[in-house]
Amino acid sequence: MQTREDLASLRWNAALAAVEIIDQTRLPHDLQRVTLDCLDDYCHAISAMLVRGAPLIGITAAYGLAHALAQDASDAGLARASERLLATRPTAVNLRWALERMAQQVDDLAPELRAAAALEQAHALREAEIASCAAIGEHGLALLQARAGEHGPLQVMTHCNAGGLATIEWGTALAPVYRAHAAGVPVHVWVSETRPRNQGTHLTAWELQQAGVPFTVVADNSCGQLMREGRVDCVIVGSDRTAANGDVCNKVGTYMKALAAADNQIPFYVALPASTVDWRCASGAEIPIEERGEDEVLAVTGRMASGALQTVSLAAAGTRAANPAFDVTPARLVTALITEHGVFAASESGMQALRARCQDFSLTPM
Ligand code: MRU
Repeated sequence: MQTREDLASLRWNAALAAVEIIDQTRLPHDLQRVTLDCLDDYCHAISAMLVRGAPLIGITAAYGLAHALAQDASDAGLARASERLLATRPTAVNLRWALERMAQQVDDLAPELRAAAALEQAHALREAEIASCAAIGEHGLALLQARAGEHGPLQVMTHCNAGGLATIEWGTALAPVYRAHAAGVPVHVWVSETRPRNQGTHLTAWELQQAGVPFTVVADNSCGQLMREGRVDCVIVGSDRTAANGDVCNKVGTYMKALAAADNQIPFYVALPASTVDWRCASGAEIPIEERGEDEVLAVTGRMASGALQTVSLAAAGTRAANPAFDVTPARLVTALITEHGVFAASESGMQALRARCQDFSLTPM
């Protein structure tokens, strides 16, 4: 039986003095750990999505910067490594959040002290991330408990992967589900497949299976119909960047679920740590949306009967595709934001209340 620690998406191997990640491009077929040995490895792991999910991207970048400073702790070395890491993916603001906190910690130090301080800060950010997700689980549990029980298991719909694999442990959207399951609240999760990269089918289904939480994978396009049939009690998703007005940017397809939820009077919750709020973005219109390669839409990778992983083409040769990886859900469609500091309205005033709570903590908003 694997423990939650065994399945941590990123961990520090003290014997090797190195970071190990789960290579998420191989899930659910192989659970393979990879050691990151140089800055190139860190940048590749983020841009090629061996690690993905906003909080995990941030923590990986923090360790990447610590690693780079162990090689070159000069001001120029720090600036170069930060710039390279920041360029790996554009939408998840946790990347910038983590790099800014790392820089804050080491900027004023003499170069010979920087590497050790940076590693210590990366460890602290990792621990804080785990604690935030655990707190999100507690606050979200209260919301789920309030809706549970009347007609069989609570039916929760989620999109993409916002579980332990997207964070370090627990996850954001899945943390309340795990807490509910552990508390004996019967819960079933509708996992939308999340085309084109299928993070739902590949990752969310896998991690729910590991945890013994009942779930069913559904095609993205079936979610509206499930809601119309009364088979969904609430939707919980994560966020890659939340603007100061409560607009939420998350995996493409989130917006359509929010529209369908609103039309069917189904609560639509977004679970996020405060590290995912971009206080400098006044609204979702300012959030950069990552455009990924055509191949993600036009081909699919799976396991053959022989056991080998194979990529096959889905379209006629010469077919073109567009691949915006995220979308923005306006705050008016979000029922509430579940954070480590409590549950807040997705509105200017709700966001101000969250900001005030963040200021009580050492990791203040920037
Ligand atoms: O492209 P990905 O897989 O990095 O996208 C991840 C998501 O959209 C998640 O829902 C989001 O990061 C929240 S993770 C807790």
